[in-house]
Amino acid sequence: MATLLLALLFLLQSAYGGSGGGFTADLIPRDHPASPFHPDHVRSAAQRSISRAHHLWARHGSKDFQSDVTYSNSEYYMKVSIGSPPLETFVLVDTGSDLLWTQCKPCIKCYRQKSPIFNPRNSSTYKTVRCGTRLCESLTGARCGGHDGRTCNYFYGYGDESSTNGVLAMETFRIGTHPGKTMTLPRTVFGCSYNTSKGFSSAGSGVIGLGGSGPFSFISQIEDSIGGQFGYCLVPESRKGTSKISFGEDSVVSGPGAFSTPLVSVGSDRFYFVDLEGFSVGKTSFSYGDNSTNSEAKESSEGVIMLIDSGTTLTYVPSRFFDHLESAITAAIALPRVPDPHGNLDLCYRSPGGKLNTPTVTLHFAGGADMALNTGSTFLHLKEDLVCVPISPTDHLPILGTFAQMGFKFRFDLWKNTVSFMATTKCTAQ
Ligand SMILES: *[C@@H]1O[C@H](CO)[C@@H](O)[C@H](O)[C@H]1NC(C)=O
Ligand SMILES: *[C@@H]1O[C@H](CO)[C@@H](O)[C@H](O)[C@H]1NC(C)=O
Ligand SMILES: *[C@@H]1O[C@H](CO)[C@@H](O)[C@H](O)[C@H]1NC(C)=O
Repeated sequence: MATLLLALLFLLQSAYGGSGGGFTADLIPRDHPASPFHPDHVRSAAQRSISRAHHLWARHGSKDFQSDVTYSNSEYYMKVSIGSPPLETFVLVDTGSDLLWTQCKPCIKCYRQKSPIFNPRNSSTYKTVRCGTRLCESLTGARCGGHDGRTCNYFYGYGDESSTNGVLAMETFRIGTHPGKTMTLPRTVFGCSYNTSKGFSSAGSGVIGLGGSGPFSFISQIEDSIGGQFGYCLVPESRKGTSKISFGEDSVVSGPGAFSTPLVSVGSDRFYFVDLEGFSVGKTSFSYGDNSTNSEAKESSEGVIMLIDSGTTLTYVPSRFFDHLESAITAAIALPRVPDPHGNLDLCYRSPGGKLNTPTVTLHFAGGADMALNTGSTFLHLKEDLVCVPISPTDHLPILGTFAQMGFKFRFDLWKNTVSFMATTKCTAQ
Protein backbone atom coordinates (compact mmCIF):
# COMPACT_ATOMS: atom_id res chain seq x y z
CA MET A 1 0.00 0.00 0.00
CA ALA A 2 1.71 3.07 -1.11
CA THR A 3 -0.17 5.34 1.06
CA LEU A 4 0.58 8.80 0.02
CA LEU A 5 -0.96 12.16 0.42
CA LEU A 6 -2.88 13.47 -2.51
CA ALA A 7 -1.57 16.95 -1.94
CA LEU A 8 1.85 15.51 -2.36
CA LEU A 9 1.04 13.98 -5.68
CA PHE A 10 -0.17 17.28 -7.00
CA LEU A 11 2.91 18.95 -5.68
CA LEU A 12 5.08 16.44 -7.39
CA GLN A 13 3.38 16.85 -10.68
CA SER A 14 3.41 20.61 -10.63
CA ALA A 15 6.50 21.59 -8.73
CA TYR A 16 8.61 18.74 -9.95
CA GLY A 17 12.20 18.74 -9.26
CA GLY A 18 11.82 19.58 -6.02
CA SER A 19 21.70 10.95 16.88
CA GLY A 20 19.91 9.42 19.05
CA GLY A 21 19.59 5.88 20.09
CA GLY A 22 17.50 3.24 18.48
CA PHE A 23 15.38 0.17 18.62
CA THR A 24 14.54 -2.59 16.24
CA ALA A 25 11.44 -4.52 15.44
CA ASP A 26 10.75 -7.55 13.29
CA LEU A 27 8.82 -6.99 10.12
CA ILE A 28 6.18 -9.44 9.18
CA PRO A 29 5.15 -9.62 5.56
CA ARG A 30 1.53 -10.51 4.78
CA ASP A 31 0.97 -14.21 3.93
CA HIS A 32 2.12 -15.04 0.53
CA PRO A 33 -0.31 -17.09 -1.50
CA ALA A 34 0.06 -17.82 -5.19
CA SER A 35 -0.65 -14.34 -6.38
CA PRO A 36 1.06 -11.86 -4.16
CA PHE A 37 0.72 -8.92 -6.43
CA HIS A 38 -1.46 -6.06 -5.61
CA PRO A 39 -0.54 -3.26 -7.93
CA ASP A 40 -3.70 -1.57 -6.85
CA HIS A 41 -2.10 -1.27 -3.49
CA VAL A 42 -0.51 1.79 -4.83
CA ARG A 43 -2.28 4.27 -2.78
CA SER A 44 -0.95 7.27 -4.46
CA ALA A 45 -3.01 9.67 -2.54
CA ALA A 46 -4.44 10.28 0.82
CA GLN A 47 -6.73 12.99 1.81
CA ARG A 48 -4.99 15.11 4.29
CA SER A 49 -1.79 16.89 4.36
CA ILE A 50 -1.27 17.15 8.04
CA SER A 51 0.68 20.18 8.94
CA ARG A 52 3.88 19.72 10.77
CA ALA A 53 3.86 21.13 14.22
CA HIS A 54 4.99 20.42 17.72
CA HIS A 55 6.16 17.07 18.81
CA LEU A 56 4.08 15.69 21.52
CA TRP A 57 6.61 14.02 23.50
CA ALA A 58 10.19 14.42 22.67
CA ARG A 59 13.33 13.44 24.46
CA HIS A 60 12.51 10.12 25.85
CA GLY A 61 16.13 9.50 26.40
CA SER A 62 18.47 7.88 23.98
CA LYS A 63 17.27 4.46 23.00
CA ASP A 64 17.72 1.82 20.37
CA PHE A 65 14.88 -0.42 19.57
CA GLN A 66 14.36 -3.19 17.13
CA SER A 67 11.45 -5.29 16.08
CA ASP A 68 10.69 -8.29 13.91
CA VAL A 69 8.72 -7.73 10.77
CA THR A 70 6.47 -10.37 9.29
CA TYR A 71 5.78 -10.89 5.63
CA SER A 72 2.28 -11.46 4.42
CA ASN A 73 0.98 -11.17 0.90
CA SER A 74 3.81 -8.91 -0.20
CA GLU A 75 3.31 -6.60 2.71
CA TYR A 76 5.31 -6.16 5.88
CA TYR A 77 3.85 -5.99 9.35
CA MET A 78 5.34 -4.93 12.60
CA LYS A 79 4.32 -6.14 16.01
CA VAL A 80 3.26 -3.47 18.46
CA SER A 81 1.56 -3.59 21.85
CA ILE A 82 -1.15 -1.10 22.57
CA GLY A 83 -2.47 0.12 25.90
CA SER A 84 -2.39 -1.01 29.50
CA PRO A 85 -2.60 -3.94 29.84
CA PRO A 86 -0.81 -4.31 26.51
CA LEU A 87 -2.61 -5.86 23.59
CA GLU A 88 -0.36 -7.31 20.91
CA THR A 89 -1.18 -6.57 17.34
CA PHE A 90 0.38 -6.07 13.91
CA VAL A 91 0.42 -2.94 11.83
CA LEU A 92 1.40 -2.47 8.22
CA VAL A 93 4.77 -0.75 7.85
CA ASP A 94 4.15 2.08 5.43
CA THR A 95 6.74 4.71 4.61
CA GLY A 96 4.25 6.19 2.14
CA SER A 97 1.82 7.58 4.72
CA ASP A 98 2.11 9.32 8.02
CA LEU A 99 -0.66 8.34 10.39
CA LEU A 100 -0.51 5.55 12.97
CA TRP A 101 -3.90 3.95 13.45
CA THR A 102 -5.48 0.74 14.59
CA GLN A 103 -9.04 -0.55 14.57
CA CYS A 104 -10.96 0.02 17.80
CA LYS A 105 -14.05 -1.32 19.50
CA PRO A 106 -16.91 -0.74 19.28
CA CYS A 107 -16.67 -0.88 15.50
CA ILE A 108 -19.10 0.93 13.30
CA LYS A 109 -17.40 -0.85 10.46
CA CYS A 110 -14.22 -2.85 10.81
CA TYR A 111 -12.59 -5.24 8.40
CA ARG A 112 -11.77 -8.68 9.71
CA GLN A 113 -8.43 -8.78 11.49
CA LYS A 114 -6.59 -11.78 12.89
CA SER A 115 -5.58 -10.28 16.22
CA PRO A 116 -8.22 -9.09 18.71
CA ILE A 117 -9.54 -5.57 18.14
CA PHE A 118 -8.28 -3.03 20.63
CA ASN A 119 -10.88 -1.91 23.13
CA PRO A 120 -10.00 1.51 24.52
CA ARG A 121 -12.37 1.00 27.45
CA ASN A 122 -10.12 -1.75 28.58
CA SER A 123 -6.99 0.34 28.76
CA SER A 124 -6.10 2.59 31.66
CA THR A 125 -3.77 4.74 29.55
CA TYR A 126 -6.14 5.57 26.72
CA LYS A 127 -7.04 9.23 26.39
CA THR A 128 -8.94 10.94 23.62
CA VAL A 129 -7.67 14.14 22.12
CA ARG A 130 -10.12 16.92 22.85
CA CYS A 131 -11.69 18.91 20.13
CA GLY A 132 -10.48 22.50 20.00
CA THR A 133 -6.98 21.73 21.17
CA ARG A 134 -3.99 22.66 19.05
CA LEU A 135 -3.34 19.01 18.49
CA CYS A 136 -6.78 18.40 17.07
CA GLU A 137 -6.68 21.56 15.04
CA SER A 138 -3.43 20.60 13.40
CA LEU A 139 -5.21 17.67 11.82
CA THR A 140 -6.78 18.94 8.63
CA GLY A 141 -10.39 17.97 8.40
CA ALA A 142 -10.74 16.93 12.02
CA ARG A 143 -14.22 17.49 13.37
CA CYS A 144 -15.79 17.64 16.77
CA GLY A 145 -17.81 14.57 17.57
CA GLY A 146 -18.67 12.06 20.25
CA HIS A 147 -21.47 12.09 22.79
CA ASP A 148 -20.38 15.38 24.26
CA GLY A 149 -19.34 16.84 20.92
CA ARG A 150 -15.83 17.34 22.25
CA THR A 151 -13.98 14.40 20.79
CA CYS A 152 -11.55 14.96 17.94
CA ASN A 153 -12.68 12.89 14.98
CA TYR A 154 -10.39 12.26 12.05
CA PHE A 155 -10.73 10.99 8.54
CA TYR A 156 -7.68 9.73 6.63
CA GLY A 157 -7.97 8.43 3.11
CA TYR A 158 -5.52 6.65 0.84
CA GLY A 159 -5.08 6.76 -2.90
CA ASP A 160 -6.89 3.51 -3.55
CA GLU A 161 -9.90 5.03 -1.81
CA SER A 162 -9.48 2.99 1.30
CA SER A 163 -9.82 5.04 4.44
CA THR A 164 -9.85 5.11 8.20
CA ASN A 165 -12.17 7.19 10.27
CA GLY A 166 -12.31 7.45 14.03
CA VAL A 167 -11.14 9.28 17.08
CA LEU A 168 -7.76 10.88 17.54
CA ALA A 169 -6.36 9.62 20.82
CA MET A 170 -3.24 9.01 22.87
CA GLU A 171 -2.08 5.70 24.13
CA THR A 172 0.97 3.82 25.35
CA PHE A 173 2.61 1.82 22.57
CA ARG A 174 5.32 -0.75 23.07
CA ILE A 175 7.63 -1.49 20.21
CA GLY A 176 10.49 -3.87 19.89
CA THR A 177 10.67 -7.62 19.96
CA HIS A 178 14.22 -8.00 21.14
CA PRO A 179 15.35 -8.09 24.72
CA GLY A 180 16.97 -4.81 25.65
CA LYS A 181 15.78 -3.29 22.40
CA THR A 182 12.27 -2.33 23.23
CA MET A 183 10.72 1.00 23.85
CA THR A 184 7.64 2.12 25.68
CA LEU A 185 6.10 5.17 24.11
CA PRO A 186 3.53 6.82 26.35
CA ARG A 187 1.07 9.38 25.05
CA THR A 188 1.57 8.43 21.43
CA VAL A 189 -1.00 10.07 19.20
CA PHE A 190 -2.82 7.60 16.99
CA GLY A 191 -6.09 7.08 15.23
CA CYS A 192 -8.58 4.79 16.94
CA SER A 193 -10.46 3.64 13.87
CA TYR A 194 -14.12 2.80 14.33
CA ASN A 195 -14.95 2.95 10.66
CA THR A 196 -12.40 1.38 8.34
CA SER A 197 -12.97 0.74 4.67
CA LYS A 198 -12.09 -2.39 2.77
CA GLY A 199 -8.65 -2.70 1.28
CA PHE A 200 -6.68 -3.76 4.31
CA SER A 201 -5.45 -7.25 5.04
CA SER A 202 -6.56 -9.24 8.07
CA ALA A 203 -2.86 -9.72 8.85
CA GLY A 204 -2.85 -6.27 10.40
CA SER A 205 -5.09 -4.14 12.57
CA GLY A 206 -3.96 -0.86 11.07
CA VAL A 207 -1.04 1.03 9.62
CA ILE A 208 2.08 2.55 11.04
CA GLY A 209 2.79 5.50 8.77
CA LEU A 210 6.53 6.11 8.78
CA GLY A 211 6.48 9.26 6.73
CA GLY A 212 7.84 12.20 8.66
CA SER A 213 5.16 14.75 7.82
CA GLY A 214 2.72 15.92 10.39
CA PRO A 215 2.84 15.71 14.14
CA PHE A 216 1.00 12.41 14.18
CA SER A 217 3.37 10.37 12.17
CA PHE A 218 5.00 7.90 14.42
CA ILE A 219 8.36 9.15 13.18
CA SER A 220 7.65 12.78 14.02
CA GLN A 221 6.59 11.78 17.49
CA ILE A 222 9.72 9.81 18.25
CA GLU A 223 12.08 11.77 16.05
CA ASP A 224 14.12 13.36 18.80
CA SER A 225 14.69 10.14 20.67
CA ILE A 226 15.83 8.26 17.59
CA GLY A 227 17.98 11.06 16.22
CA GLY A 228 15.83 11.23 13.12
CA GLN A 229 16.88 7.79 11.86
CA PHE A 230 15.32 4.46 11.26
CA GLY A 231 15.87 1.63 8.86
CA TYR A 232 14.75 -1.80 7.80
CA CYS A 233 15.79 -4.83 5.91
CA LEU A 234 13.14 -6.77 4.01
CA VAL A 235 13.79 -10.47 3.67
CA PRO A 236 13.03 -11.74 0.19
CA GLU A 237 9.83 -13.68 0.48
CA SER A 238 11.32 -16.78 -1.01
CA ARG A 239 13.61 -17.13 1.92
CA LYS A 240 12.44 -17.92 5.36
CA GLY A 241 13.35 -15.58 8.10
CA THR A 242 12.17 -12.47 9.78
CA SER A 243 12.83 -8.97 8.55
CA LYS A 244 13.84 -6.27 10.99
CA ILE A 245 13.01 -2.66 11.50
CA SER A 246 15.30 -0.55 13.64
CA PHE A 247 14.95 2.88 15.09
CA GLY A 248 17.88 5.03 16.14
CA GLU A 249 21.53 4.13 15.91
CA ASP A 250 20.79 0.49 15.32
CA SER A 251 19.79 1.36 11.83
CA VAL A 252 23.24 2.36 10.62
CA VAL A 253 24.18 1.20 7.14
CA SER A 254 27.88 1.44 6.42
CA GLY A 255 30.88 -0.40 5.09
CA PRO A 256 31.84 -1.57 1.60
CA GLY A 257 28.87 -1.72 -0.70
CA ALA A 258 26.93 0.95 1.18
CA PHE A 259 25.56 3.82 -0.88
CA SER A 260 23.94 7.03 0.10
CA THR A 261 21.70 9.36 -1.88
CA PRO A 262 20.07 12.62 -0.82
CA LEU A 263 16.45 12.75 0.20
CA VAL A 264 14.73 15.16 -2.13
CA SER A 265 12.19 17.49 -0.60
CA VAL A 266 8.87 18.01 -2.27
CA GLY A 267 6.94 20.88 -0.77
CA SER A 268 6.85 20.74 3.00
CA ASP A 269 6.00 17.05 3.20
CA ARG A 270 8.55 14.69 4.54
CA PHE A 271 8.49 11.44 2.68
CA TYR A 272 11.34 9.43 1.28
CA PHE A 273 11.89 10.81 -2.18
CA VAL A 274 15.09 10.16 -4.08
CA ASP A 275 16.38 11.17 -7.46
CA LEU A 276 16.56 8.31 -9.95
CA GLU A 277 18.97 9.33 -12.67
CA GLY A 278 18.97 6.23 -14.77
CA PHE A 279 19.28 2.48 -14.84
CA SER A 280 21.30 -0.30 -16.39
CA VAL A 281 20.31 -3.69 -17.67
CA GLY A 282 23.47 -5.71 -17.82
CA LYS A 283 25.91 -3.48 -19.63
CA THR A 284 23.27 -1.30 -21.28
CA SER A 285 22.64 1.96 -19.44
CA PHE A 286 20.09 4.70 -19.78
CA SER A 287 19.82 7.98 -18.09
CA TYR A 288 16.62 9.90 -17.86
CA GLY A 289 17.81 12.59 -20.24
CA ASP A 290 18.59 10.13 -23.03
CA ASN A 291 16.49 10.26 -26.17
CA SER A 292 14.36 12.92 -24.62
CA THR A 293 11.70 14.18 -26.93
CA ASN A 294 8.93 14.96 -24.52
CA SER A 295 8.71 17.91 -22.19
CA GLU A 296 8.60 15.75 -19.09
CA ALA A 297 12.19 14.74 -19.63
CA LYS A 298 13.39 18.24 -20.32
CA GLU A 299 11.87 19.61 -17.17
CA SER A 300 13.80 17.16 -15.10
CA SER A 301 16.89 16.30 -17.03
CA GLU A 302 18.64 15.27 -13.81
CA GLY A 303 16.27 12.49 -13.05
CA VAL A 304 12.98 11.24 -11.82
CA ILE A 305 11.76 11.74 -8.31
CA MET A 306 10.91 8.37 -6.86
CA LEU A 307 9.22 7.49 -3.59
CA ILE A 308 10.68 4.72 -1.46
CA ASP A 309 7.59 2.99 -0.19
CA SER A 310 7.45 0.01 2.12
CA GLY A 311 3.71 -0.17 1.52
CA THR A 312 3.81 -0.75 -2.25
CA THR A 313 4.70 -4.05 -3.82
CA LEU A 314 5.65 -3.18 -7.37
CA THR A 315 8.12 -0.64 -8.64
CA TYR A 316 6.66 2.03 -10.88
CA VAL A 317 8.77 3.94 -13.35
CA PRO A 318 7.77 6.59 -15.88
CA SER A 319 6.44 5.06 -19.09
CA ARG A 320 9.37 6.17 -21.19
CA PHE A 321 11.81 4.72 -18.73
CA PHE A 322 9.79 1.56 -18.75
CA ASP A 323 9.98 1.24 -22.53
CA HIS A 324 13.76 1.23 -22.36
CA LEU A 325 13.80 -1.19 -19.47
CA GLU A 326 11.43 -3.48 -21.25
CA SER A 327 13.41 -3.65 -24.45
CA ALA A 328 16.72 -4.05 -22.66
CA ILE A 329 15.41 -6.83 -20.41
CA THR A 330 13.69 -8.55 -23.31
CA ALA A 331 16.87 -8.44 -25.37
CA ALA A 332 18.92 -9.85 -22.52
CA ILE A 333 16.60 -12.57 -21.37
CA ALA A 334 15.79 -13.65 -24.95
CA LEU A 335 12.47 -15.29 -24.13
CA PRO A 336 9.00 -14.82 -25.64
CA ARG A 337 6.83 -12.17 -23.99
CA VAL A 338 3.54 -13.42 -22.59
CA PRO A 339 0.74 -11.67 -20.74
CA ASP A 340 0.51 -12.22 -17.01
CA PRO A 341 -2.40 -14.63 -16.46
CA HIS A 342 -3.49 -12.53 -13.47
CA GLY A 343 -3.30 -9.35 -15.46
CA ASN A 344 -1.29 -7.57 -12.80
CA LEU A 345 2.19 -7.49 -14.22
CA ASP A 346 3.39 -5.85 -17.38
CA LEU A 347 6.59 -7.70 -18.00
CA CYS A 348 6.28 -11.48 -18.23
CA TYR A 349 8.11 -14.13 -20.21
CA ARG A 350 7.52 -17.74 -21.01
CA SER A 351 10.47 -19.63 -19.68
CA PRO A 352 11.24 -23.12 -20.84
CA GLY A 353 12.56 -23.97 -17.39
CA GLY A 354 16.16 -24.47 -16.50
CA LYS A 355 18.67 -21.73 -16.17
CA LEU A 356 17.64 -18.25 -17.20
CA ASN A 357 19.77 -15.59 -18.72
CA THR A 358 18.78 -12.89 -16.29
CA PRO A 359 20.60 -9.57 -16.57
CA THR A 360 21.41 -7.45 -13.56
CA VAL A 361 19.05 -4.50 -13.32
CA THR A 362 20.65 -1.55 -11.57
CA LEU A 363 18.98 1.67 -10.56
CA HIS A 364 21.25 4.69 -10.50
CA PHE A 365 20.33 7.22 -7.87
CA ALA A 366 21.86 10.65 -7.46
CA GLY A 367 25.28 10.79 -5.85
CA GLY A 368 26.52 7.63 -7.51
CA ALA A 369 24.24 5.41 -5.47
CA ASP A 370 23.81 2.26 -7.55
CA MET A 371 21.24 -0.28 -6.54
CA ALA A 372 21.75 -3.61 -8.29
CA LEU A 373 18.44 -5.34 -7.73
CA ASN A 374 18.29 -8.80 -6.31
CA THR A 375 17.82 -11.28 -9.14
CA GLY A 376 15.42 -13.43 -7.14
CA SER A 377 12.99 -10.61 -6.46
CA THR A 378 13.37 -9.06 -9.92
CA PHE A 379 12.74 -12.16 -12.00
CA LEU A 380 9.90 -13.90 -10.24
CA HIS A 381 9.14 -17.49 -11.11
CA LEU A 382 5.41 -17.32 -10.75
CA LYS A 383 4.83 -20.65 -12.38
CA GLU A 384 7.07 -23.28 -13.82
CA ASP A 385 7.05 -21.67 -17.24
CA LEU A 386 6.38 -18.08 -16.27
CA VAL A 387 8.81 -15.40 -15.20
CA CYS A 388 7.63 -11.87 -14.42
CA VAL A 389 9.38 -8.66 -13.49
CA PRO A 390 7.55 -6.66 -10.80
CA ILE A 391 8.11 -3.32 -12.51
CA SER A 392 5.33 -1.37 -14.20
CA PRO A 393 5.00 1.90 -16.07
CA THR A 394 3.17 4.83 -14.55
CA ASP A 395 2.20 8.33 -15.51
CA HIS A 396 2.01 9.24 -11.84
CA LEU A 397 4.45 9.11 -9.03
CA PRO A 398 7.36 6.71 -9.57
CA ILE A 399 7.67 4.31 -6.64
CA LEU A 400 10.36 1.96 -5.43
CA GLY A 401 8.29 -0.95 -4.17
CA THR A 402 9.05 -3.76 -1.76
CA PHE A 403 10.20 -6.32 -4.31
CA ALA A 404 12.98 -3.99 -5.36
CA GLN A 405 13.85 -3.29 -1.74
CA MET A 406 14.14 -6.91 -0.69
CA GLY A 407 17.61 -7.98 0.30
CA PHE A 408 18.72 -4.44 1.01
CA LYS A 409 19.33 -2.78 4.28
CA PHE A 410 17.87 0.73 4.20
CA ARG A 411 18.45 3.60 6.51
CA PHE A 412 16.52 6.84 6.42
CA ASP A 413 18.06 9.85 8.06
CA LEU A 414 15.66 12.75 8.33
CA TRP A 415 18.18 15.03 9.95
CA LYS A 416 20.95 14.50 7.42
CA ASN A 417 18.41 14.16 4.62
CA THR A 418 19.88 11.00 3.21
CA VAL A 419 18.88 7.48 2.54
CA SER A 420 21.55 4.81 2.64
CA PHE A 421 21.25 1.27 1.39
CA MET A 422 23.35 -1.79 1.02
CA ALA A 423 22.77 -5.24 -0.39
CA THR A 424 22.93 -7.91 2.25
CA THR A 425 22.24 -11.58 2.69
CA LYS A 426 21.82 -11.01 6.42
CA CYS A 427 18.49 -9.22 6.67
CA THR A 428 17.45 -11.45 9.50
CA ALA A 429 20.44 -10.53 11.64
CA GLN A 430 19.85 -7.87 14.23
C1 LIG B 1 -10.39 -6.46 29.31
O1 LIG B 1 -9.38 -7.40 29.07
C2 LIG B 1 -9.46 -8.56 29.85
C3 LIG B 1 -8.29 -9.44 29.53
O2 LIG B 1 -7.13 -8.71 29.33
C4 LIG B 1 -10.76 -9.26 29.61
O3 LIG B 1 -10.88 -10.36 30.45
C5 LIG B 1 -11.92 -8.31 29.82
O4 LIG B 1 -13.12 -8.92 29.44
C6 LIG B 1 -11.72 -7.07 29.01
N1 LIG B 1 -12.77 -6.12 29.28
C7 LIG B 1 -13.46 -5.55 28.33
C8 LIG B 1 -14.47 -4.57 28.77
O5 LIG B 1 -13.27 -5.80 27.15
C1 LIG C 1 -17.61 5.55 7.46
O1 LIG C 1 -16.66 5.85 6.47
C2 LIG C 1 -17.21 6.03 5.21
C3 LIG C 1 -16.06 6.23 4.24
O2 LIG C 1 -15.34 5.03 4.14
C4 LIG C 1 -18.15 7.20 5.22
O3 LIG C 1 -18.73 7.37 3.94
C5 LIG C 1 -19.23 6.97 6.25
O4 LIG C 1 -20.03 8.11 6.36
C6 LIG C 1 -18.61 6.67 7.60
N1 LIG C 1 -19.65 6.30 8.54
C7 LIG C 1 -19.76 6.85 9.74
C8 LIG C 1 -20.89 6.39 10.57
O5 LIG C 1 -18.96 7.69 10.17
C1 LIG D 1 18.60 6.36 -27.79
O1 LIG D 1 18.21 5.04 -27.43
C2 LIG D 1 18.80 4.02 -28.20
C3 LIG D 1 18.26 2.70 -27.71
O2 LIG D 1 16.88 2.77 -27.56
C4 LIG D 1 20.31 4.08 -28.10
O3 LIG D 1 20.88 3.09 -28.92
C5 LIG D 1 20.80 5.44 -28.48
O4 LIG D 1 22.18 5.53 -28.25
C6 LIG D 1 20.09 6.52 -27.68
N1 LIG D 1 20.50 7.83 -28.10
C7 LIG D 1 20.97 8.76 -27.26
C8 LIG D 1 21.31 10.07 -27.86
O5 LIG D 1 21.10 8.57 -26.08
